[in-house]
This record gives sequence, structure tokens and C-alpha cells, in this order.
Amino acid sequence: MYTLIFTTNPGIEDIAAEEIAAKLNASIVSADKLRGRVIAKVAEDKLYRVDLLRSIHRARILLGETSVCRERACLEHIREFIETLPLSEYITPRVSFAVRAERVGEHEYTSLDIARVAGDAVINLVRSVYGERPPVDLDHPHVIIAVDVMFDKLYVSIELGGDLSWHRRGYRVYEHPASLKPTLAYAMLIISGVRDSEVVMDPMCGGGTIPIEALLFLEDARAICSDFNPLHIRGAKMNAMAARVYKRMKFYVHDARRISEVVKSVDRIVLNPPYGIRLGNPRDIRALYTDFLREISRLDFRRLVMITTEHVHVKNVAERIGLKIVHERVVAHGNLWPKILALEH
Ligand SMILES: C[S@@+](CC[C@H](N)C(=O)[O-])C[C@H]1O[C@@H](n2cnc3c(N)ncnc32)[C@H](O)[C@@H]1O
Repeated sequence: MYTLIFTTNPGIEDIAAEEIAAKLNASIVSADKLRGRVIAKVAEDKLYRVDLLRSIHRARILLGETSVCRERACLEHIREFIETLPLSEYITPRVSFAVRAERVGEHEYTSLDIARVAGDAVINLVRSVYGERPPVDLDHPHVIIAVDVMFDKLYVSIELGGDLSWHRRGYRVYEHPASLKPTLAYAMLIISGVRDSEVVMDPMCGGGTIPIEALLFLEDARAICSDFNPLHIRGAKMNAMAARVYKRMKFYVHDARRISEVVKSVDRIVLNPPYGIRLGNPRDIRALYTDFLREISRLDFRRLVMITTEHVHVKNVAERIGLKIVHERVVAHGNLWPKILALEH
């Protein structure tokens, strides 16, 4: 049995935990909200299934976790804690290593400080066991040690998948300038309740991440990908071909504020509309949301799921036009903290 720590997008830990438990037959130890970390016990013969997971960024062997404080003096605690871990089972004077540190929350130290003390701790530890220091190789190390400080928790682990995060899907031949992380797209699809043989629509689909993710885990579902920008639709078609789901998709170049001209009824609507950060005037983006929600309320659908920083406005409009909010949660998206909202008639 291995204790693994999976990283995911903060805010979807429960969805990742459910997927890990189901697909790896794992028992979940913890899935703390907004820390982006799920710890689970996984049997050795299920380890190879880790790359089936659609909600995780990385999978690592957990060596230790502890509480950590925010003051600069706590860097010493990090060093001391790392020196107690069984790292010399993985790193010797013949095995190169690199530390990758990540930090979320407010601390008087940076991730570079963490990487520096952790690197020193590993060198001291290996030298005390073998009498020689291990080589550091930041570009092509044999072993990557992940040292993450998430608010008041420290996690130390060994990377299973090298430097490449599992959320980077091979099908992204066209990179939309504001593309959604596929792991967030997957989580939104789970929240939508979409099932096999249903139709899911993204009326502002950009490079097609949401519909493509849907078809990758639902073999008999179909998807509609619509955007008013023909360049993005061309890119979405390329991505769909690369993902081998093109045949189950329909594409439209259409304004979402008039989507009922081409679509009358779908099972689920899942979308990532623009947040308006680049549009400048928040009034323009709110007008787009109002017009879109009025239009969409005319369609026949079971549930609509959207990710937005304009959640207060969406709730106000939804109430006015008779759509109910049935689910909401905060998630991290880049350096923003938007909400995922689910709406029903
Ligand atoms: C944040 S991006 C979506 C990115 C997409 N989820 C992906 O991963 O590639 C928002 C998209 O909404 C589209 N859009 C904005 N207003 C629209 C409208 N009125 N009708 C249709 N599409 C619209 C933009 O062209 C853009 O591609």
C-alpha cells in the first residue's frame, strides 16, 4: 500500500477524491478544502491507473506532512522536518535530485526560500547516511522532491510523473488565449450531472476544452461547441480531431445571446464565459451575462453550470428570470477565485 498525495485545482478536492476512490479503489485519508491536495492509500497494483484520472494535476508518494507557521523563523522547522524523512531511500550520492517548492497563503518566506532550505536538508541527510553529497540537477533530475506549503500545512513528497503535470492534455493543438484547465472543466461536468448518451453544450466554447473533456469520459455522449469567434471554432475543431472526439461534436459560429436560433434543447449547458478582466468596463460584461441568461432561460435544459467572477450579478439575474441556484463553490483559477454556479429551471 502506498500513501499518495494528489494535487488538484483548489476547490475541487472532493471531486478529485471521489474519482481517485472510484478509479483506483483507494481509501481517502484527507481532502482538505481549497488546499488542492488529496491524500489517499493506493494498492501497488493500482498505481498504473493513476494516468486515467481526469481531475488531478500530479501524483506523488507522500513522505510526510506537518503544520507550519508563517514567520520567517519557521524555515528552520521545515529544514528540521525534512531531515527526519526517509529521503535517503530514494536519493543517494549516485542519484541526482531537484526540489520543486510551491506556496499558497501568506508567509514571510517565498517558495525559493523553501526550495533552498529543503535542498540543504536533503544534502545534509544524504551526506549523513552515505558520507557523500548527492548531485543537484535542476533540469533533468532522477528524483523530484515536491515541498508544498499550503497555508498552514507542509507536504513533502516524491513526484511520480516527472515535471509534466497531468492536466496538460495532449489534444491541445490549438491553445485558446483564455483556455480553461481541463481539470476544472472535468469538475464542472461532474457538477452538471452529465451522463452517458446525453448532449452537453458549451455556447462560449473557445478551444473546446469543456465539450472535449465531456466526450473523453463519456463514450456515448455528444457535444455542441459554439463560439462567436470563427478562429476559436477552427481551433476547437483541431483539438477535437486530436482528441478523437470530432465525430460526436457539432460546431457553430454563433452569438450565445441568440443561441436559440440554432439549438432548442440540450441536457446540460456548461460554460466558462469571459470574466471581463480584459474588457475593462464591468458593465459590458454584466450586460453580456444578463442577455445570455435571458436567452438561455428560453431553452429546454436540465442543468447549467458556469464558472464566473460575476457570481453576484449572475445570482441577481437568475432570481429575476426564474432560474434557481442549486450549487455553488469557490475555486482557484489562475490568481483569481471565481465561483462555479449550477442553475436549473
Ligand atoms: C474564457 S473563453 C472560453 C475558453 C474555453 N473554455 C477554452 O478552454 O478554450 C470565453 C469565450 O467566450 C467567447 N464569447 C464571448 N462572448 C460571446 C458571445 N456573445 N457569444 C459566443 N461566444 C462568446 C469568446 O470568443 C471566448 O472564446
